[in-house]
Amino acid sequence: MEPSMDISMALFSPETANDPHPLFARLREAAPVHRLERHQWWAVTRHAEVSRILKRPDLFSSDTGLDRLCPPHIDERTWQELERMRGPSMFNSDPPKHTRLRKLVSAAFTPRAMTQLEGRVQQIAGRLIDSILQRETFEVVDDLAIPLPVTVIAEMLGVDPARGADFKRWSDDLITLGRMTREQRDWAAAESVRLIESRRELFAHMQEMIAARRQEPRDDLISQLVRAECEEALTAEEVLGAVLLLLVAGNETTTNLIATGTHLLLEHPEALAELRDDPALVPNFIEEVLRYEGPATMLFRRTTAEVEVAGAQIPAGNLVVLLLGAANRDPAQFPDPDRFDIHRDTRGHLGFGQGIHFCVGAPLSRLEGRVAFTELIRRLPAFTRMDARPAWHDHTSLRGLRSLPLRFVRRA
Ligand code: HEM
Repeated sequence: MEPSMDISMALFSPETANDPHPLFARLREAAPVHRLERHQWWAVTRHAEVSRILKRPDLFSSDTGLDRLCPPHIDERTWQELERMRGPSMFNSDPPKHTRLRKLVSAAFTPRAMTQLEGRVQQIAGRLIDSILQRETFEVVDDLAIPLPVTVIAEMLGVDPARGADFKRWSDDLITLGRMTREQRDWAAAESVRLIESRRELFAHMQEMIAARRQEPRDDLISQLVRAECEEALTAEEVLGAVLLLLVAGNETTTNLIATGTHLLLEHPEALAELRDDPALVPNFIEEVLRYEGPATMLFRRTTAEVEVAGAQIPAGNLVVLLLGAANRDPAQFPDPDRFDIHRDTRGHLGFGQGIHFCVGAPLSRLEGRVAFTELIRRLPAFTRMDARPAWHDHTSLRGLRSLPLRFVRRA
């Protein structure tokens, strides 16, 4: 990498969002750690160092303060309100607070809980595929990849089915709002007012639900969190924060897994043919999607003390950007890393992170992915893409397709 190049500009440019891998490869080959010129930021590129950092939360804190930085295109008051409506979360806290917040949520994602959920996930996916089969063309993102995780999490939380349509809208708007705060160019005044209003409605509804479950607990995740609140393990804001985090962290990422996975099947027809022959390969295919083109391409940490990483001396209080997308294609960890290979040994991929913050929802997204791809492969006839080129979202840190319109190829 030429020393004069501003890496931070390149990392967040639209070209990189469209395809981050050439830049990731150049950075990884040039050095394990780069200092980003315009900030006190450091980018870490290789698997060994990224993995080591994720296992040292004492030196690399998740309380980065990044969420407290108001993006320049949003006014300070609105940002403060959005922050208030988010609540505290495990995502950006360190032990011991992190341990307490995570323990209660993780109980909902045990293998036993997932086994109990599987039939229902199959029903929901089956119904979505039924409706896709009525048509000649379909849109993977809107018709399958968005509604599946949203419907599942709504049911897990215990949202009243009568409010299902509202919940879906709030959840979609939450995703759009998140994208707009990242993808600054899309921030239009009228739309932002509507999205913020929608987030207020979701916040109010969640508060109502929490109050109702306090009065009358049920067999759902919100009741479980409220019970923890009564036993003084959580505060009311923490319950709200946990619910909103599940929506934010779980929906868009799983949507991206399903849409990107479908895109990769179109790019690799031999893999699709193998999966049709042997659906038992689907779980490994999913892990390879997470490695090769995972939704989360970077994570942030802040150093708590001066620390050395691969020869670079990083001062205390600096921000460290962990390039998961680069580490997942590090040839030192994965031989021939740019090859998409559904038979590969994917162990050690960092698509769900590693260490104490390892994705708490991983079992759920693996289940949803497995059901979605198995149904898609089993029930849909051959399909082909309608767009010449894939349309990726405009931000490097969360990788996913805007849309993926497909057409069935029906034999006469
Ligand atoms: C954490 C990725 C699905 C909830 C994480 C982290 C990653 C990640 C990389 C680590 C963050 C860090 O270390 O700072 C993904 C991907 C998903 C997915 C790629 C889908 C393919 C889900 C789902 C849920 C969820 C379905 C819940 C419904 C969370 C939560 C955390 C987290 C709550 C924070 C854990 C902690 O801080 O201890 N996820 N995630 N994720 N994820 Fe996921």
